[in-house]
Amino acid sequence: MLSVRVQPKLCTPNQALQLSKAIAPLLHNSSLGYSAGPKGTTVCIQQRGNSRAFSTTPDRKLRDFFPVKETEHIRQTPPAWPHHGYTEQEMLAVVPDHRPPQTIGERVAWKFMRFCRWGMDFTTGMQKEQKVDKANPTTSITAIKPLTEAQWLIRFLFLESIAGVPGMVAGMLRHLQSIRRLKRDNGWIETLIEESYNERMHLLTFMKMCEPGWFMKSFIVIAQGVYFNSMFLFYLISPKLTHRFVGYLEEEAVHTYTMCIKQIDEGQLPKWTDPNFKIPEIAVKYWQMPEGKRSMRDLIMYIRADEACHRGVNHTLSNLNPKEDPNPFVSEYKSGQEPPRPALRPQGYERAEVM
Ligand SMILES: [Fe+2]
Ligand SMILES: [Fe+2]
Repeated sequence: MLSVRVQPKLCTPNQALQLSKAIAPLLHNSSLGYSAGPKGTTVCIQQRGNSRAFSTTPDRKLRDFFPVKETEHIRQTPPAWPHHGYTEQEMLAVVPDHRPPQTIGERVAWKFMRFCRWGMDFTTGMQKEQKVDKANPTTSITAIKPLTEAQWLIRFLFLESIAGVPGMVAGMLRHLQSIRRLKRDNGWIETLIEESYNERMHLLTFMKMCEPGWFMKSFIVIAQGVYFNSMFLFYLISPKLTHRFVGYLEEEAVHTYTMCIKQIDEGQLPKWTDPNFKIPEIAVKYWQMPEGKRSMRDLIMYIRADEACHRGVNHTLSNLNPKEDPNPFVSEYKSGQEPPRPALRPQGYERAEVM
């Protein structure tokens, strides 16, 4: 039986001292933590600042999960794909949306995505009152009861660990096809692999805020095995339908983050609106977040815009001929116009618009 447990409590002064000694060299901050999630899962939310040091998580679990590797000569390793950034208007204009299936194959892909969403709701311990209107599951963001911060983090971790797979599989297959068939790829590979990289940055950011326990880690390993192999097979059979499926997955991601932003705005996630809560440095650097725009809400706004981008890109790629058409998002146009901006095209561009 899966359940969500959230049991915040204060540390004793002795525990707090041990805690800060244990993590100070790594994090230079103190922690705000609690255990939650599917049975056996521990989530620890870390918080900078020196005014709080409390947790129910055992001290041995409070550590930087992947500290920067110090070497004799290397100062830092910047991202291979620097983030292209968004205007504030672009981030605010993102809305949950759904592209209705137009073929039997798309309908099957959409139904399968509904099943995956049900599985994620179940696994993250979502109660009936926390769910949205069943008739509009990808666009409705109103629920009777909010999720807790721990539930959101579990959801983000599952989602991001899965979302990083398809771009890499598609990019890898197109790369192999190009060198096997001695043909140009026309710019798809870089966008697909960059998408995977971007999804992994989402995951790493959330991993800096929490650490899953053995149950979730096992689930992620199994899910990746199944998902990678299925994507591999399906991309060989139908790249168009696979991109459509990924478009549906990204619709769910935009929905998830929009709902989270709404609950932050309504003051239902107090741990994240606490002025002492600081987002991880890895996120500030990757998105080049300006001073004064580094709240959890700002971070989720950036991530949601990324998901909207993936949604528009995958729906568009699904509309193209994968064998011949160039990738419009990295192309120069004869008219001198800018390449299309996928974040604000939830249903993607039709082929005639971009070719
Ligand atoms: Fe993501
Ligand atoms: Fe995504």
